[in-house]
Amino acid sequence: MAFLLKSPGTFAANTLTMTKFPLNDAAQWVEAFGAPLYVYDAKTIRGQYFRMKQAFEPSIEVDIHYACKALNNLNILKLMRSLGAGLDAVSLGEIELGLHAGFRPDQILFTPNGVGIHEIKAAVEIGVLINIDNLETLEEFANEFGSSVPVCVRINPHIMAGGNSKISVGHIDSKFGISIHQIRHLHRIVQNMGLHVHGLHMHTGSDILDIDAFMRGADLLMDLAHDFKELNYIDFGSGFKVGYKPGESATDIESFGNKMSTRFKEFCLEYGRDLKLIFEPGKFLVSEAGVFITKVNSTKTTPSTVFAQVNSGFNHFPRPMMYDAYHHIENISNPDGEQRLYTIVGYVCETDTFGYDRKLNEVRNGDLLAFHNAGAYCSSMSSQYNSRVRPAEVLIEGDQAYLIRERETMDDLLRGTIEHGLYQDIVIQGKEEAEIAVPS
Ligand SMILES: Cc1ncc(COP(=O)(O)O)c(C=O)c1O
Repeated sequence: MAFLLKSPGTFAANTLTMTKFPLNDAAQWVEAFGAPLYVYDAKTIRGQYFRMKQAFEPSIEVDIHYACKALNNLNILKLMRSLGAGLDAVSLGEIELGLHAGFRPDQILFTPNGVGIHEIKAAVEIGVLINIDNLETLEEFANEFGSSVPVCVRINPHIMAGGNSKISVGHIDSKFGISIHQIRHLHRIVQNMGLHVHGLHMHTGSDILDIDAFMRGADLLMDLAHDFKELNYIDFGSGFKVGYKPGESATDIESFGNKMSTRFKEFCLEYGRDLKLIFEPGKFLVSEAGVFITKVNSTKTTPSTVFAQVNSGFNHFPRPMMYDAYHHIENISNPDGEQRLYTIVGYVCETDTFGYDRKLNEVRNGDLLAFHNAGAYCSSMSSQYNSRVRPAEVLIEGDQAYLIRERETMDDLLRGTIEHGLYQDIVIQGKEEAEIAVPS
């Protein structure tokens, strides 16, 4: 289902938008597809992809593997493939989605964590590239495949970087990667078990603003790389930050590309061969391309604040509760309304605050609130908690709005449930207790 957008595609004059595409048509989208609703803009995604690609010197072969977990709708994966991206997958499910979207197995890097060898064997059978982050698993892999299947290894450089403890994954206490202090052991396994290491990988966290923190990790990895003679690529992961607040800084990708290109070219010279440079961004490509539109159910004045209560919850939009993330919120239905202070909350039966002390144009029942930066880790992390169905997803491509995932229905809440005809009778209070009384 698709419809033609009526607006000329300009930003509403009053819209202090974090989202890089016009929201003039929001009411029309909601009329057609309901609210809450995730909306994504293909043009913004393309823009971010090419910005990243062009940040590096053209003489370096740079592959961008889209981190599927950020937004896994099949149409988004197909869009990425059409741009020439590869895929970063963390589960067999993501691999299957990638194949379904038309990626070749050799364009998919499987970077699981904490999985058993059976999953890795299944991925080898499919033919994707394998990335292993645990020496015990690497030994199992070697016992199974020896020199017949090349492998990439994920190194933990022990660098603290990232916007929140749950998304800082390259430090000493993290479960991810093979510690940089285990390199001697890693070499022992590689040499004695005949493994071919074709790739080195790291990913230290998400929301990294500081290019130097990123470069420190990259330097460590390039230093190690000299002792792996069969490399084809180095994958420096991702973690590029985007702006969540109006005016907030994002990773300066152009400056990063510049620094990284110079350093990587030096490295390749020393190494004696040109290697491929891989990144696996999620957030950078899709975060600002998405907006989440909710409808106000009611407002509620309490002794401490005025709540704006919307028809969604952390089941659809988990980042504020999960990572204390700030998402900019805007009342797009009342452009001339006076600004007032609100606490924006959902309908989940737990505290699910989307934003404290936000200035919004006066909020009335039925107004639409736009949550910005909703492209990454929103719909893909959503759930049916509180037995609420997941919202629909819409993609704006050219002048058309395409429905790319239907709103779930009651059938989806029941899907997979098996009824056995149990418990048809009303239990008579007291009788059953007597039957199951513990014998003395
Ligand atoms: C291994 C790996 N690669 C890439 C990413 C994508 O990170 P980001 O969305 O910050 O770009 C993640 C995010 O969790 C990850 O764990």
